Amino acid sequence: MQGTDDGRRVALITGASGGIGADLARVFARNGHDLMLVARSDDKLAALADEIERATSRRPLRLALDLSDPKAADAIEAALQQNGARVKILVNNAGYGLSGDVGELGEAEQLGVIDLNVRALTQLTIRFLPDIRAAGGKILNVASVASYFPGGPGMAIYYASKAYVLSFSLGLAQELLQDGVTVSALCPGMTPTGFQARAKFGPDIKLDKIPATSSMEVAEAGYKGLMAGRREIIPGGFNKLGAWVLPFAPKHMILSLISQMQHQRR
Ligand SMILES: NC(=O)c1ccc[n+]([C@@H]2O[C@H](COP(=O)([O-])OP(=O)(O)OC[C@H]3O[C@@H](n4cnc5c(N)ncnc54)[C@H](OP(=O)(O)O)[C@@H]3O)[C@@H](O)[C@H]2O)c1
Repeated sequence: MQGTDDGRRVALITGASGGIGADLARVFARNGHDLMLVARSDDKLAALADEIERATSRRPLRLALDLSDPKAADAIEAALQQNGARVKILVNNAGYGLSGDVGELGEAEQLGVIDLNVRALTQLTIRFLPDIRAAGGKILNVASVASYFPGGPGMAIYYASKAYVLSFSLGLAQELLQDGVTVSALCPGMTPTGFQARAKFGPDIKLDKIPATSSMEVAEAGYKGLMAGRREIIPGGFNKLGAWVLPFAPKHMILSLISQMQHQRR
């Protein structure tokens, strides 16, 4: 844990060492927010903290830990206290998926997706909600366009985890309506980051033809939507259209298409 300032109200960003989370950190810093960055890779967090300090003269706090450890929330809380900082904005971005059928992948690695995408996101939300409420703050949960699909054969646990993130965010947003706290679900589509390698996607010619958004485009849309208090933020016209059309499409047809697409990814 680095940083020594007192009385700080920070935007806590998980998964800030790369991809969408690192660009969210850049966008928040550019807009004057004080930050606490969390991920496992301290070297990458330190490099990002250097970059942000050079650009803004304000050094983010950082903490390297594995969020799938149930004690991670305690460690973050202790680190914040140690630095006299409190959470005003929570950005639950860390997440990953695994390509493969449930019957083929290992038990521990599949439960790891739920530990990070669902349990850690929920725990951090519960833990820091009092501070966020007191500050009239905001919560940004990174879901996915996958949240809108009826299921994701070939990546079933990931799709289900992101359906949870959207459902949880919408329910919580309504609960917090009277408190002046907004909750937004950011739902990116295909975005080239470390996500594809961690999911173990193979080369996929058809997927390359799907219009992709950059991680910076996603981060900028996420920040703008969060500040505007929008509950669902879907970056990119292609993804917006998809989310709009999906509820009208027969579920069996969508499940069959996803199954084919996921098998082509391997
Ligand atoms: N890329 C896409 O196409 C896409 C589409 C829709 C939604 N999303 C969502 O966007 C979010 C960000 O993903 P990304 O695309 O930016 O992927 P990424 O480049 O792989 O970044 C994931 C981030 O999460 C961190 N992380 C992973 N496991 C962690 C753990 N156990 N504890 C703490 N931090 C952990 C990683 O850092 P360390 O490895 O240093 O821990 C990294 O900073 C995810 O929730 C993902 O599901 C991505």
